[in-house]
Amino acid sequence: MTEIETTPDLLDAPAAEAARPAATLPERPLMELLDVSKEFSVRSDGKRVQLSAVNGVSLQVREGRTLGIVGESGCGKSTLARIIVGLHQATSGEMIFDNKQISTTKRRPREVVEQMQMVFQDPSSALNPRATIAESVAFPLQVQGRSSKEIAARVKQVIADVGLPANYATSYPHQLSGGQRQRVNIARALALQPRLVVLDEAVSALDKSIQAQVLNLLTDLQREYQLTYVFISHDLNVVEYISDDVAVMYLGQVVERGSAASLYEKPLHPYTQLLLSSIPSMDPADSTRDQPLDDANNKEIPSPINPPSGCRFRTRCPHAMAICAEEAPRPSNQADDHVVACHLYPGSSSTSLPEQDLRSLTAPAL
Ligand SMILES: Nc1ncnc2c1ncn2[C@@H]1O[C@H](COP(=O)(O)OP(=O)(O)O)[C@@H](O)[C@H]1O
Ligand SMILES: [Mg+2]
Repeated sequence: MTEIETTPDLLDAPAAEAARPAATLPERPLMELLDVSKEFSVRSDGKRVQLSAVNGVSLQVREGRTLGIVGESGCGKSTLARIIVGLHQATSGEMIFDNKQISTTKRRPREVVEQMQMVFQDPSSALNPRATIAESVAFPLQVQGRSSKEIAARVKQVIADVGLPANYATSYPHQLSGGQRQRVNIARALALQPRLVVLDEAVSALDKSIQAQVLNLLTDLQREYQLTYVFISHDLNVVEYISDDVAVMYLGQVVERGSAASLYEKPLHPYTQLLLSSIPSMDPADSTRDQPLDDANNKEIPSPINPPSGCRFRTRCPHAMAICAEEAPRPSNQADDHVVACHLYPGSSSTSLPEQDLRSLTAPAL
């Protein structure tokens, strides 16, 4: 008897594996974006111009799974995150959530707001320094008009769910570590029992060891509550670790998407290949760590105010061809829902490639 009690983890492990909800969930999308765009009106050289932050983005996230979104700073990840949870109204585009069509361009009804919540990057500035942890976590419940009895019970539950001791409820943010503060932010996002959580650079400000703890917490919470995540990060290692599917963004557009396994093993788009070749190693002794993205041409990212014609990546692409300046490549499915928008691949161009363009494939135009 005592022997069995000393090895509960070992005995439970296979059962826990078998009970993973991910294995039994239907593969239906919980949320789908259709041709979503967002333009900001900004001043440039004294004139009002349109900045194309997100352009024609279509993607989907499967229920109970994690969609990772990667791309360099300024490519539109946060704008897209805010559109998903309704903090930004898109210029155009639709969303399907749980089989219902939701406008991305209008304010959300309250019952939709509850179902999609967001965790932001900076654990400190996201919390009111003068509010206790319990007050911060209670806030979204109050906004949604929940009863004080329900709020008290929910706050207690969710603080425990994120692994914080109950007595932290009366603490203030400055009394907590960065990792603990991010647990509070996660608790606050979960307070309304959302089905979709958008995590925008949610672990990026944390030390590597704390990052791992928070990622494991997110994975545990996902299993327990069948949560669906959109996990946004510029860190490809972290995205590979947590994601089932991945979308790669460049200058407001999704250039490639697929399962994490297929995308990391066989990146198709030249931009994804570039990103993956410049992935910093996880090894702290490796001297290539923390180097900025350095492409072969070392060209600047163009401005979203005046993006390149045709393929937005063509000005940095080692394989650019004549057609790339003329025509925006269409997303085309290469295999098993691994989709790429690039004229190098069949199905992305409206016409088959002219002969001179095919020749240029073997001699990249630098
Ligand atoms: N509120 C805003 N007003 C004007 N431009 C914005 C606003 N928010 C973001 N942008 C611009 O939109 C582009 C995408 O920004 P963002 O979504 O924050 O990218 P990321 O999160 O990938 O770094 C950038 O060029 C940024 O300057
Ligand atoms: Mg951002």
